[in-house]
This record gives sequence, structure tokens and C-alpha cells, in this order.
Amino acid sequence: MSCILRTHHLTKRYGETAVVNDVNMTVKAGDIYGFLGANGAGKTTTLRLITGLIRPSAGDIELFGAPVLGNKKKVLERIGSIIEHPGFYLNLNAKDNLEIHRRLMGMGNKECIDDILAAVGLLDAKKQAVKNYSLGMKQRLGIARALLHHPELLILDEPTTGLDPGGIKEIRQLFLELANKRGITFLISSHLLSEIEQLANKIGIIHKGSLLEEIDRETLRKKTRHYIEIKVTDERKAAFILEQKLATTDYVAAGSGVLRVYEHLEQPDRISFTLANNGVGVKEMVLSGDSLEDYFLKLTGGERFA
Ligand SMILES: Nc1ncnc2c1ncn2[C@@H]1O[C@H](COP(=O)(O)OP(=O)(O)OP(=O)(O)O)[C@@H](O)[C@H]1O
Ligand SMILES: [Mg+2]
Repeated sequence: MSCILRTHHLTKRYGETAVVNDVNMTVKAGDIYGFLGANGAGKTTTLRLITGLIRPSAGDIELFGAPVLGNKKKVLERIGSIIEHPGFYLNLNAKDNLEIHRRLMGMGNKECIDDILAAVGLLDAKKQAVKNYSLGMKQRLGIARALLHHPELLILDEPTTGLDPGGIKEIRQLFLELANKRGITFLISSHLLSEIEQLANKIGIIHKGSLLEEIDRETLRKKTRHYIEIKVTDERKAAFILEQKLATTDYVAAGSGVLRVYEHLEQPDRISFTLANNGVGVKEMVLSGDSLEDYFLKLTGGERFA
């Protein structure tokens, strides 16, 4: 997959403090990249750097395979973003707001506005004054505006802030639809672990200005799976019995007589009983594995996200 965004040693200092510190992040085409970090971690600053709102103190940014420096206009045209609160003309309706923006930016034709309003689920509300919109509707309108010039990459800073669980779910659905139907790549920041985990296929964790880890959701899920760890007298025989008698396929032999079984978590007694009945002694048995929350706590040295 081609690289949409790559930062090299990206750094932003304010005075003595590096609020973004040597960040190397990679977003590939088709990614929904979740940029996760606590308040003050450096998310907004990083996104402002990427979208050219502020300049790095050190390091550089590559967008669509080209350095931003020297190609700023050309590459930024391919990005849509909501980083600051989008301002609207509150007395005007959604359609007129988008039309003004379209003309100001000298973009596309008029007809595309209804398409975009339909894509974000606002077509039925397009004649309603924006001042009567709910927060969720305003977010959708902001997204519509960011989509108006058909960007390939959408950069959104905490787009679900202030929404209730229903609104968050709807926006999540919208992002997935835009990613699947329009092939848009997303870079979305959040301080909510659960939200990012449900949406992103790749997660970058920023903490005190440093990117601690970039991890695929699948790898993260594997790392945070629970299992029963069993120390047995005969590892090979135990594996054979698990497969034959309990139809277990989801296990690994961890060496030194230890098996990790990812199934039957609710019935450890069934495992020990079956092994013992078939001549394998169980020396130890313990339910193990980090929860997602534990995993992040370890990574950030015990500090919570939210
Ligand atoms: N213009 C500035 N001058 C000085 N310090 C700044 C400036 N902008 C941001 N900072 C500092 O940089 C750090 C990171 O801020 P940033 O807004 O990037 O964090 P964030 O991860 O977006 O946090 P939040 O979740 O609260 O939005 C904070 O300590 C903030 O005070
Ligand atoms: Mg922020």
C-alpha cells in the first residue's frame, strides 16, 4: 500500500519544551489511523504541523510521496481537515454554507454539494438554518465542508468531542462508509481508547510529545487477548489431548512445559480434568493476559488516557 503521510523526526518546540518530539509516523492509503493520546499529549500540535498551520522546529513531513516543503499548495489541496472549530454562518442553511465555501475556494460545480450532503446524511436537513442544528449535525456539516474538494486524506482532530454515545456511533459509521465507498484515508485524533479501538485499523499512541508505538488493530487485539496458561508434565501430550478431546485449535506452546490456551476460558476445570484423565499432570494453571486498558497503562507508564 502506498504511503499517504510520513513524518521524519517531526519536532515542535515551544521555548525549551518539545511538545512534539521526534515523531516518525506513517499513514498508508486506506488506513483509518487513530492518533491516541491524553490531554496535552501533542495531538493537535502534530495535526497542525501536518496541515501546515504551524511550522516544525525540526524534521519534515512527506505527503503523497512528496516533501511538503516546496510542494505545500499542491499536497495540501489533496487534504481535508477539521482542526479548529469550523465556523458557519448560523442564520444560513447547510446548502448555502457549503455553497459560500465552494465559491470562496473556487471549487467544483454546484451539483456536488447535494452529493456531499447526502454522503454525510444531511440532505433532508439542508434547508434548515445551521443555528438549529444539533452538535452532531454541525460535525457532519464540518465533515461535508472538509470533503467538498474531494480530498484523499481527511485529518480530523477529536471529531466526536461533545457527542453522546449515539452521535459517536453515527459519526463512526459515517467514517467507515466514507473510507469504504470513497476510498478516503483518515487520520483521526482522540483521547478515547474505546472509540479508536472500534474505528481505526492502525493506532499511533502519542504521550508527552513522543510517538510511543504504532500498532495494527489485529496485533493489538492479539496482544490483549486473554488465555489460560497451563504448566503441564508433558507438553506434547497435553497439546494432543487438547486437540483430540476438546477440539482445541487456538493455543500455543510457549516452551518449558507451558501451553497458552485461548479457548475454554470459562471452563478451566474442563481443561484440567481432561488432561488429568488422560495422564497429563497439571502443575499450574492461571488466567492471563492484559486488557486493552492495561496494555496502554503499561505503555504510558501508568497514566490513563481518559
Ligand atoms: N502555541 C503554544 N505555545 C506554547 N505551548 C503550546 C502551544 N500550543 C500547544 N502548546 C502545549 O503543547 C502541549 C501539547 O498540546 P496539544 O494541544 O498538542 O495537545 P493535545 O494532545 O491536542 O491535547 P488535548 O487532548 O487537550 O486537545 C500542551 O502542553 C500545550 O500546552
Ligand atoms: Mg487537542
